[in-house]
Amino acid sequence: MKFLILALCVAAALATSPDLDQEWQMWKDNNQRKYEVEEEDYRRFVWEYNYKIVTEHNQRYALGHTTYTMAMNQFADMTNVEFRKRMNGFVSAIAPLETTQSRIDVSPLPDFVDWNSKGWVTPVKNQGQCGSAWAFSATGALEGQTFNKTGKLPEISEQNLVDCATAPKYDCAGCNGGTMLGAFQYVIDNMGIDSESSYPYQAQDMKCRFNAANVVATEKTYVVLPSGDEKALQRAVATVGPISAAIAASHVTFQLYQSGIYDEPQCSQTALAHNVLIIGYAIENGNPYWLVKNSWGADWGMNGFVRMSRSKDNQCGIATRACYPLV
Ligand SMILES: *[C@@H]1O[C@H](CO)[C@@H](O)[C@H](O)[C@H]1NC(C)=O
Repeated sequence: MKFLILALCVAAALATSPDLDQEWQMWKDNNQRKYEVEEEDYRRFVWEYNYKIVTEHNQRYALGHTTYTMAMNQFADMTNVEFRKRMNGFVSAIAPLETTQSRIDVSPLPDFVDWNSKGWVTPVKNQGQCGSAWAFSATGALEGQTFNKTGKLPEISEQNLVDCATAPKYDCAGCNGGTMLGAFQYVIDNMGIDSESSYPYQAQDMKCRFNAANVVATEKTYVVLPSGDEKALQRAVATVGPISAAIAASHVTFQLYQSGIYDEPQCSQTALAHNVLIIGYAIENGNPYWLVKNSWGADWGMNGFVRMSRSKDNQCGIATRACYPLV
């Protein structure tokens, strides 16, 4: 009913274009969408609204006015408000930022770092309709450090964190959001975390079913990087491995990001409601960027990855809450 009313409202304002019928059909087929009759018109309207945004943005890209492209990806039938509700964990207001000041180190850093090419990064995962990005960010950092320690790259269970690293002790609320620090502290206290295969991801809050027999990684402590310091973050990425970070990811430009260096001047440095894994950095055509692993499946962005602007005034707050575990 809600959709019917909305559809009627928007139908009056803007009739959908018949030219796009075929593309709409193809997009629905490719993304396995089947709507109720009353929802179809509304979704088509939202999709077409996004289609215009993407088309206009990519025209600017073709003219060299922006560094990244957008695509009609799996989020293309969602309004930006729906997207924010569905994809992001909560904006964490808890856990005052503690800063573990790193030693003053001015030794030169490499221009390019990519831990994925060195075997430190597992394949891109998909958090589904669950605000558990914090768990994916945490397992990603743990996977890398465990690889360095053992020579074997483990797949670590996010569901273990979603179910067990819960409030009040760990500041986490499963699919309603959480923090990497809560996850790291849980793994320390718990003396380990289970493997992905023994404790597979279910994208919903379940009862804690940790089994010590299936532990695949342990952790000694964690480090919090100085907030907002992209130089310190660069040093950590270069010398430690993949680093966990919170980012602002609420703009439609991120929702429908496809490739290139994401650059959103409106992006907040403090309203951080998504969590990712920084797996390297580089420079392209003079533009420095962070190489970032997301948890929205391999269909989103560059095979699941995004290049985020680097040294652009801590854009999207990528250096605001960065941290990593020590194993
Ligand atoms: C990997 O582990 C070794 C041995 O503990 C350590 O010396 C080295 O700094 C680690 N490498 C990185 C990039 O963290």
